[in-house]
Amino acid sequence: MKTEGGSDAAKRRAGESAAETVDDGDVVGLGTGSTAAHAIRAIGRAVDAGLDVRGVPTSFASRDLARKCEIPLVDLDDVVGPDGPGVDVAIDGADRVADGDLIKGGGAAHAREKFVDAAAARFVVVADPSKEVAVLDGPVPVEVLPSARAVVAEAVRTLGGEPELRSAERKDGPVVTDNGNLVLDCAFGAIDEPDALATALATTPGVVEHGLFVGLADEVHVGTTSGVRVVEL
Ligand code: A5P
Repeated sequence: MKTEGGSDAAKRRAGESAAETVDDGDVVGLGTGSTAAHAIRAIGRAVDAGLDVRGVPTSFASRDLARKCEIPLVDLDDVVGPDGPGVDVAIDGADRVADGDLIKGGGAAHAREKFVDAAAARFVVVADPSKEVAVLDGPVPVEVLPSARAVVAEAVRTLGGEPELRSAERKDGPVVTDNGNLVLDCAFGAIDEPDALATALATTPGVVEHGLFVGLADEVHVGTTSGVRVVEL
């Protein structure tokens, strides 16, 4: 679920700082959420001023925004492979950040976000200080095949979590992801061993993807009231 708090000004500083690290000729993973949106808008302005980049969206929403910003888009299939340039950098937000490990998926986009962010040579996280925690503790979004909802929920309980089907806000019934699946928000309390939990969730039959991003980030740009703090990992 989305974290509350964090000013739009701080998010904008983080997004714009990350966008400044994009080089001419780069293939750029375009993240999802309100903080990544600031990076997309900044890249759009740079494209308007002559920067030559191609974007790989991570969701319906980021594709839509990138189109509005007139950023040329490309499919991951067209850039990843033996002859492709690959993804040079991905810029994406987070719901929680602890020592560079993340919980993502507040916008239910974490499945596509994960394979685009993981494919990038450099993964830059953009956040405001409200996302920073000492230990990951928020509910972990788990995207599941609709028919696997009950078995995954039971497996999550066995792992010590409390699953809750995410409900839509302006539609009766559940959130349906861009991939046509459901989301279980799974509360585990403090996650002392994110790597072990990530492996356990990833190997649960019926799970499409979970929102723990462990060891993937290369930099975190935290927008503050007065500037940006860049953490290299
Ligand atoms: C999308 O599913 C998420 O992973 C977002 O990147 C995350 O929720 C951060 O969003 P905000 O920047 O809006 O807080």
